[in-house]
Formats: sequence, C-alpha cells, structure tokens
Amino acid sequence: MKLKENIVTVLEIQNLKKSFGENHVLNGFNLRLFEGENLVVMGKSGSGKSVMIKCLVGLMQADSGSIRIRNQDITVLGQTELDLLRTEIGFLFQGSALYDSMTVRENLEFPLRRHKKKLRMTGHTEALVIEALENVGLVDAIDLMPAELSGGMQRRIALARALILKPKIILYDEPTTGLDPITAKEIIELMRSIQAKYGTSSLIITHDVDCARVISNRIILLVDGINYAEGTYQELSHSDDPETMAFFKH
Ligand SMILES: Nc1ncnc2c1ncn2[C@@H]1O[C@H](COP(=O)(O)OP(=O)(O)OP(=O)(O)O)[C@@H](O)[C@H]1O
Ligand SMILES: [Mg+2]
Repeated sequence: MKLKENIVTVLEIQNLKKSFGENHVLNGFNLRLFEGENLVVMGKSGSGKSVMIKCLVGLMQADSGSIRIRNQDITVLGQTELDLLRTEIGFLFQGSALYDSMTVRENLEFPLRRHKKKLRMTGHTEALVIEALENVGLVDAIDLMPAELSGGMQRRIALARALILKPKIILYDEPTTGLDPITAKEIIELMRSIQAKYGTSSLIITHDVDCARVISNRIILLVDGINYAEGTYQELSHSDDPETMAFFKH
C-alpha cells in the first residue's frame, strides 16, 4: 500500500471495536504504522492498549473492524497463511512471559521450533540463538533459568526471543514498565539499536512518557476506545487540550 511520498503502510487497523459485555473497550480505533517508524500508543491503564495488541496478533478476536498486516487482511486468512505472517511479527508481551521451566536457550529456540518447517531451517538454531543473545548483550545467560535472571535481564531475553525470527514488525507492550529508570533506559537504547540494525517498524505501547519522548516518531493517544489525538511528541506535549496535556504531566 503506497502512499504519497513513497511511504509504505505495513500495518493498518480500521474501525476496531471490542466489548466485554457492557464494557466497551475499543469503539472504532484506527491506526496506521509506516515502514521503518516507531509509533507509540499511549493510554491510561485499562484503556484497551493490550486488548488492541492482542487483536492484532490474533490472541483475541475483535467484534468488528479490519486489520491489515503487510497488506493482508488477517481476519480472512487461513491458519497456514496466518502462521507465516506471524513469523514476520515479533511480540514483546507485557511483563516478559518467559517460560519458567525452560532455560534461556530453550526459550529462544521455542519460536524457531514452532516455525521451523515453514522457515526450512535446519542446523542454524544455535547460531540464531547466539546472535539474538548478542543483540541484547546476554550471551553468558544462555544456560540460566528465568528465575536466575533480574527483571531487566528477563525483559532483554524476552526481547531477544521476539527478535529471533528477524521480524519486519515488532509490537512492544509496555517494554519499560516495572523496571528501574536506568534499566528502562537500557531497554529503550536496545530497541533503538535493533531498529537501526534491522530497519524494523515498531508499534510501542507505553504509558512511560520518557520512553515515548525518546523513541517515538509519532504518538497516538488512545482515549475512550478511539484514537483521540495523533502527532509527534513535540506537537502533542505542547497541545493546549486538557485531555492531551494530562498525558505529558510528570
Ligand atoms: N479477557 C478479558 N475479559 C474481560 N475483560 C477484559 C479482558 N481483557 C481485558 N479486559 C478489559 O478490557 C479493558 C482494557 O484492558 P487492557 O488490558 O487492554 O488495558 P491496558 O490499556 O492494556 O491497561 P494497562 O496499562 O494496565 O496494561 C479493561 O477494562 C479490562 O478489564
Ligand atoms: Mg496492558
């Protein structure tokens, strides 16, 4: 999908709606992610950010609306096509969601094994695991269990796992939440270096204003289930709309 100025849309959400009974969480949300950009979605706790991202990756079914990833409507794709598309998307879950009973190596091998047939990869697993760990500076942790890692290390391993298939699009759900400010900065730097290295497009969900300032090319504010405001950090943080201003108060 080419736009003017040769901007390519890699992911597009149109009029997304999702309710849980009387709880109308998403009420016609729209979003467009351009190739190579870092798009941040900010919203209060409970505003539906995780619900939105879960609909995107197919962990949750939307009530209505369309989701197009690399120009394919995911709501009409069959399982095989969907699985193939998923290999192009990395997802960093809120928290870290490592498998507690598996070593770091096994955690990283997991997405490789799942998609091995489709990727026709044999024998390269070790090299890919090492490369992914190098990207996050944790090769030495390869044989440790998640319980032996600090919170920041767990997040970095989860990031390595999200990256192992060299996805074209990465979805981050609260990458810095729960980390101390220094570790949060390290994670943000990692996200930036990974984008520079692989030219990925990233959708980043956060309520960390510092994270949004440092990493975003554009920001969307999710309020009352819709994209309430959009713009650069500069534009939105200088808005005189009270609802928008509330996001940027420290
Ligand atoms: N599986 C579910 N069943 C019922 N309600 C749900 C479910 N998942 C989410 N919700 C509701 O949807 C709303 C949005 O939840 P969501 O997890 O998307 O919030 P969030 O914006 O990610 O918040 P946070 O910043 O705390 O992570 C909440 O009211 C939540 O209770
Ligand atoms: Mg959430």
